[in-house]
Amino acid sequence: MADANVTAVREYGDTSWHDGPTRGVEDVVEGGAVLAFPQLAFALDPAEQRFLDPRWADPKAKNVSVRWPSGELRGAAGAADDLQQLRALIVRFAEQSEAFALRLFPHYRGHLRRGNTSFRPTDVAGRVRSWRQDDTRLHVDAFPSNPMQGTRLLRVFSNVNPSGAPRRWRVGEPFEAHARRYLGAIGRPLAGSAWLMHKSGITKRRRTEYDHVMLQLHDRAKADLGFQQSGPQARVDFAPGTTWVVYSDQVLHAAMGGQHMFEQTFLLDVEHLHRPETSPLRTLERLLHRPLR
Ligand SMILES: [Fe+2]
Repeated sequence: MADANVTAVREYGDTSWHDGPTRGVEDVVEGGAVLAFPQLAFALDPAEQRFLDPRWADPKAKNVSVRWPSGELRGAAGAADDLQQLRALIVRFAEQSEAFALRLFPHYRGHLRRGNTSFRPTDVAGRVRSWRQDDTRLHVDAFPSNPMQGTRLLRVFSNVNPSGAPRRWRVGEPFEAHARRYLGAIGRPLAGSAWLMHKSGITKRRRTEYDHVMLQLHDRAKADLGFQQSGPQARVDFAPGTTWVVYSDQVLHAAMGGQHMFEQTFLLDVEHLHRPETSPLRTLERLLHRPLR
């Protein structure tokens, strides 16, 4: 895919999580590419294969997850013994993906923070949701109740589908082009609104102007059917056995289909990037000619 108008997908031949040829690729991921490892499977042992079934997910939860630093299992349904094994499987993914991320990005050592680890045994297709929650529409990640205040969202995904089904994504235009598309229409937040949302518990911490702009980008892209249908985009299929790494607050992405995936989120403050100027925060500040605090 050599189209400069669309996010690049770079493939690497690594076959091992702990040691492999690829390291020191901070500039590639910070530049907004998807790093794909088609021969890097997250292996389940025979006794763990039974967890590839939606019945382990609490129907009320979006996915099964382990929260850090507590290590608590959430969103799962089953007997205590089984859930202990399921938790161990998810924890193993957290540890392998963390060792992997620190090999790829040694510059982040000591600064990368482990966010939630999730297992998604349910099919992407068939989840009926509002347009705002519809992740089959191209978007950058931004969350109404969880302001990031500029902190980066780095994600490691693995497709563990046992029957050959790919994880089907679309990727869109580079972040700066995307920001320019909507930035002129985005106003400033209402005075006092960030304080009020934090005070009343709507947000976990204060929603900065950065968060306001990111949420607007998320919502405007999803609501813009013309952009969804005819904006710059490419299909990307991640076959079972593939692991991929992406800054999901920067790469326009849409999950079109697939079942059985692991995902690890990492958090990184902008000043610990190899090139902080590539971050959404610094990009938006440069385009708007002011700090977004
Ligand atoms: Fe997303």
